[in-house]
Amino acid sequence: MTKKILLSGIQSTGTLHIGNYFGAIKQFVELQDNYDTRIFVANFHSVTTIQDKEKLEKLTREIVIDYLACGLDPEKVTLFLQSSIPEVTELAWYFNCLITVPYLMRAHSYKDKVANGKEPSAGLFTYPMLMAADILIQDSEIVPVGQDQKQHIEFTRDVATKFNHTYGETFKLPEAYILDDVSIVPGLDGQKMSKSYGNTIPLFAEDKDIEKLCMQVVTDSLSPADPKDPETSNIFQIHKLFLNNVEKEELAEKYRAGGLGYKEAKEMLAESVKKFIGPIREKRKEIENNPDFVDQVLKQGGQKAQAIASKKLLEIRSKVGIL
Ligand code: AMP
Ligand code: TRP
Repeated sequence: MTKKILLSGIQSTGTLHIGNYFGAIKQFVELQDNYDTRIFVANFHSVTTIQDKEKLEKLTREIVIDYLACGLDPEKVTLFLQSSIPEVTELAWYFNCLITVPYLMRAHSYKDKVANGKEPSAGLFTYPMLMAADILIQDSEIVPVGQDQKQHIEFTRDVATKFNHTYGETFKLPEAYILDDVSIVPGLDGQKMSKSYGNTIPLFAEDKDIEKLCMQVVTDSLSPADPKDPETSNIFQIHKLFLNNVEKEELAEKYRAGGLGYKEAKEMLAESVKKFIGPIREKRKEIENNPDFVDQVLKQGGQKAQAIASKKLLEIRSKVGIL
C-alpha cells in the first residue's frame, strides 16, 4: 500500500525550543514510519526576518542537525532545504496572482506584525502563499504543525481550491495534523512559548541553563502548604509534557494534596527536562561533528524533493499557459 504524503517545515529563524519539539517535531518523528515523510527547513521563509548571510546560513544548518538529533531518520524521511526547490517560489507567484490582498490581510502572522508596530515587507505579506506552494507542490496530504499554523493550512486549502477551479483539478486538499494537548505549549511566563517572547526553554540547553530557566517559571503566590490546581499551574503544564500518563497523574495528585512548594516543583521540573534533553543534546554534538553526513543527507533529500517538485511544476505551467 502506498503511504500517504506527510510534509512539514520549520523556519530557520532561531534556536528551537521545547514548544517546537512537542508541538511539531515529536509528531514528525512518531509518524515517520507510517507516512511518506518529507521534512524541510523553510529558509526562504526565514528571509522575511533574517537578513544576515552568516546568521541565516548558520541557523539553517543548525535546524537540520536538530531534526536529526531529535530522531528523524534520513533512511525513512526526505530531509531537505526549501532552497533545494526554487520551484516553490514560481508556484507561489501563480498563487499570488489568484489570491486577493484583502484575503491575505486576514492572516494572523501578518496582523500580529502590524499590531506590534512593525512595517510588514511584501514577503511577509505573501508568506502564506509560499507555504501553500511548499505543501501543494509535493501533493502533501497531511501537515503536522502547531496551532499557530492552522490558518496557513486553511489558506493553502483555499488557494488550492481556487486554482483547481480556475485551471482544472491539480491539487489535493491537505489536512492539518494538530494534537490538542500540545497545540500551544506555554512558555516560562505562561504565554505561548515563542522565540519572539523570550520565554523559551531551548531544546538543546545545557543542564545549568535548564535549572536556571525552570526557576524562572512564573507562578502565583500560594504557599507550600496550599493545595494547587495542576490545570492552572504553569509549572505543571510544562512538566506534564515530559511525563507518561501514570507519572502525570501522580504529579497532579501531589499538586492537589498541598505540601508541594513551587521551589520544589520547579526543581522536579528541571530534573525531568534535563533527563529528556541530556541524550538528544549528546546525539546532537555527535552529528554536529560529522558535517559530511549532514551534507550527504541534504544532498540526497534535496535531489529527491526537487525531482518531485519540478515534475509537478511542469504540469502546473502547462495548465496556466506558461510556455
Ligand atoms: P516556528 O518556530 O514558529 O517556525 O514554529 C515551528 C513549528 O513549531 C510550527 O509547527 C509551530 O506551530 C510549532 N510551535 C512553535 N511554538 C509552539 C508552541 N509554543 N506550542 C506548540 N507548537 C509550537
Ligand atoms: N510557516 C511555518 C512556521 O512558521 C513554516 C513552514 C513553511 C511550513 N512552509 C511550510 C510548515 C509548509 C508546514 C508546511 O512554522
